[in-house]
Amino acid sequence: MNILVIGSGGREHALVWKLAQSSLVENLYVGPGNPGTSSLTLTNGRQVENVALSPKGFQFLRTVLIRYQIDMMVVGPEEPLVLGINDFCRNDPDLRHVLVIGPDRMGARLEGSKDYAKGFMSAYGIPTARYRTFSTDQYEQACLFLQTLEPPYVLKADGLAAGKGVIIEDDPEKAKQNLKEMLEGKFGAAGNKVVIEEYLSGIEVSVFILTDGIHYKILPEAKDYKRIGDCDSGLNTGGMGAVSPVPFADDTFMQKVETRIIHPTLNGLRKEGCDYRGFIFFGLMNCQGDPYLIEYNVRMGDPETESVMLRLQGDLAQACLSLGTQTLDREPLTAGKNHCVTVVSVSGGYPGPWQGGFAIEGMEKVKDAVVFHMGTTGSSTVLTAGGRVLAVSATAGSLARAREKAYRELSRISFEGMYYRKDIARDIMKMKR
Ligand code: AMP
Ligand code: GLY
Repeated sequence: MNILVIGSGGREHALVWKLAQSSLVENLYVGPGNPGTSSLTLTNGRQVENVALSPKGFQFLRTVLIRYQIDMMVVGPEEPLVLGINDFCRNDPDLRHVLVIGPDRMGARLEGSKDYAKGFMSAYGIPTARYRTFSTDQYEQACLFLQTLEPPYVLKADGLAAGKGVIIEDDPEKAKQNLKEMLEGKFGAAGNKVVIEEYLSGIEVSVFILTDGIHYKILPEAKDYKRIGDCDSGLNTGGMGAVSPVPFADDTFMQKVETRIIHPTLNGLRKEGCDYRGFIFFGLMNCQGDPYLIEYNVRMGDPETESVMLRLQGDLAQACLSLGTQTLDREPLTAGKNHCVTVVSVSGGYPGPWQGGFAIEGMEKVKDAVVFHMGTTGSSTVLTAGGRVLAVSATAGSLARAREKAYRELSRISFEGMYYRKDIARDIMKMKR
């Protein structure tokens, strides 16, 4: 089987790392990939190949799918899914045979429109924060609704805003100011509608499933660390680290997640006439033992995937292939008993302005962890090329050892301005399973 993975970050590197272990894979391409993906080798001895393409340029993608005789395309990021990469293939007689791992445009609305997602949750009885949606001409009504809520106030741009569309604000006047700016176009068209919702307090956990439209498999859960600074201080980022498993996601909690969140979601999708085949990422809040759904993502998380793939047992390529025949129930895909800790290193200044082009030293000295490339470039010398640069993932039989290993291995790597959080998984160490 020939596979093309779309994307270029740490999530895609981790997916490719796992797919490359399958003997079913004859050729594995990544578009556009990164220096980490092209350094991987398949079980048949062939090298993983990067293909220069833009995930949003569907016409050129068509040429690539045909030229490389791709059987299966795994879509890493959300944007091409929201733009209809799946529909594009399905509607083209020459591409119809390509199995796309990722939903069509209709399914991708679960992530592409927060208003749609909240409406879907309400319609199918999925526990979530109380909310209302307002459009550009409803500033006054929106302020009235805001006054019915307790602080902090949660404001969300409806559309995709590269992870920046959520504002959480304690001060009512500042919240109104933010609301005004959002409705006036601060996030472009993504903010034409704004969702205002109740604040949920609790601990977050990311739960992932793979579904063939009928069956589903739960992948290892993870927790990510969103703030730039230790102890969750400072600005929001794309994610500074991850840990899996998460102690409170025990059998009792996960049972509730299945009956209250996963089942109604899959039933809802079927009722809406959506044939969803791909990953679903449930961003959950554990509110005193009860799961609430904060958001859907129609793809895997980053950096969660860099932990999840190291714990996932089974053949991911074969499991993905079974989505075509809707026989995922026959695939053994389970969570290993190991623990994984992922620490992300970033460019100095991130999430504000940062500079790239610095040489990364010491990666060859890492022996006891996997280094996933998030934002790098080059070949013989690898250079920094992103805000988030590398994710170092280590596994062990205990969380303490996995954590110690991840930090020890990361300390062998250096580049100018390198920064990482020192407290990834420290909070989890204090929790009992
Ligand atoms: P989202 O883009 O919806 O994932 O929101 C980004 C982050 O904002 C989430 O991962 C949470 O940390 C936080 N967040 C979003 N909605 C809420 C909420 N209703 N209550 C508390 N935190 C929230
Ligand atoms: N780590 C959160 C995300 O991928 O959206």
